[in-house]
Amino acid sequence: EHIDWDAEAAEKGGYDSYMLKEIYEQPTALTNTLIGRLHDDTGEVNLDIGLDPASFKRISIIACGTAYYAGMVGEYLIEQLARIPVDIDVASEYRYRDPLVSEQTLAIVVSQSGETIDTLEALREAKKGGARTLGIINAKGSSITREVDDTLYIHAGPEIGVASTKAYTSMVSAMLLLALWLGRARGTLGGEQARELLHAARELPRLVEAALAPERVARIQEIAEKYAHASDYLFLGRGVNSPTAYEGALKLKEISYIHAEAYPAGEMKHGPIALIDEDLPVVVVATESRLLEKTISNVQEVRARKGKVIALLSDGDTENAQHADDVIYVPRAHEMVSPVVNAVAMQLLAYFTATALGKDVDKPRNLAKSVTVE
Ligand code: AGP
Repeated sequence: EHIDWDAEAAEKGGYDSYMLKEIYEQPTALTNTLIGRLHDDTGEVNLDIGLDPASFKRISIIACGTAYYAGMVGEYLIEQLARIPVDIDVASEYRYRDPLVSEQTLAIVVSQSGETIDTLEALREAKKGGARTLGIINAKGSSITREVDDTLYIHAGPEIGVASTKAYTSMVSAMLLLALWLGRARGTLGGEQARELLHAARELPRLVEAALAPERVARIQEIAEKYAHASDYLFLGRGVNSPTAYEGALKLKEISYIHAEAYPAGEMKHGPIALIDEDLPVVVVATESRLLEKTISNVQEVRARKGKVIALLSDGDTENAQHADDVIYVPRAHEMVSPVVNAVAMQLLAYFTATALGKDVDKPRNLAKSVTVE
C-alpha cells in the first residue's frame, strides 16, 4: 500500500501555512517567554542577565521591521515604567548616522533571527562607542547573541513564516518584562503597580487564547473578505498601540500586497486625512486606554469623510460600536499589555485578506525570512 507522506504538511501540523500555525502557537510561545520570570508575590521580575540596571543613563533600541515595532512598544514601556530616556532607530539608519554613544548608553538590539545584517552592524557601531549591549533575540546561538553582553531570549520557538507573528508578541512581552525589571531596580515602579502589571502579564497567554476563539477568528475573516479588494488601507493607533497600527500595516503589505499606511491617530489631520474617501478602509485601534476618547474623536473624523471604519474595541464596548462600520472585539486587557492582544487581530486580518486574494502567505514575493545582505 502506498502512503503519501508530505513532510512539509506534517511540519505545518494540520494548518494550511506556517504563518497560521505560528499565529495559533502564540499562547504557548508567550507562556515560554514569561515562564520562571515573574514573581507575583514580591512584584519582582527575574531575567537572569548580568546587566547592572544602574550602569547606564540612556537606552538606544535598534532593530528592523517587525522587531522595530516591538522596540517602539519597548520605548513607551521603559520610559513609562523606568523613566529612562529611550531613543529608537531603524538599524540601517543607526549604523550610518554616527550616533551619539557612550559608556552611559545601553544599546538594545531586537531580532527574531539574530542574523539581520543591519542590526548586527548597528550593534558593532554601538559597541565601538562604548555602549553596554543587550539582545532581545529568538534564535539560540545566533550571530547577535555571540556579540552582545547579555541576551534576553524570547523563547518563542522556531518561526518559519516570513511574516513574523509569534516572535512579535513574544518580543513585546519581553520588552514589558525588561521595563518592569528596570522600573523595580531603579525604584521608579512601586510594588503595588508592579504586582498589577505582573498579573496583567501573566494573563497574556490566556487573553491571546481568547483572542483566537473560533467565533472571533470567523468574524475577522468576514471583515477581511469584505475589504479584500480595497487598493489601500489606513491603520491608526495611539500611545502604546501606535506600533500596533504600524505592525498591522506591515503585515498586510507583506502578504496581501495591498498598500497600507499607518499613523498615530492624532497625526491624521496633518495630512493623511486627505486620503480618506468611501473606498478607504481605516483600521483604528480603539481598545480601552487613557486616550480612548481622543481616538474615538479621530474615528468620527474618518467617518465624517465617509471612510470605512474597522474598529478594534474591547469586549463590552457597545457604546463606541456605533461609530464603526465593522467592529473587531478583542478581550479586555490592561493598556500596557494590550499591544500583545491587539496584534493577534492584526495578524488575522492580514492573513485572511491574503488568503481571500489567493496569495501564498508563507512565500510572499520579494521577501526573505532573514535579511543577511545589505
Ligand atoms: C516581519 O514580518 C518581516 N518579515 C521583517 O520586517 C522582519 O521583522 C525584519 O526583517 C527583522 O528580522 P529579525 O527580527 O530577524 O531581525
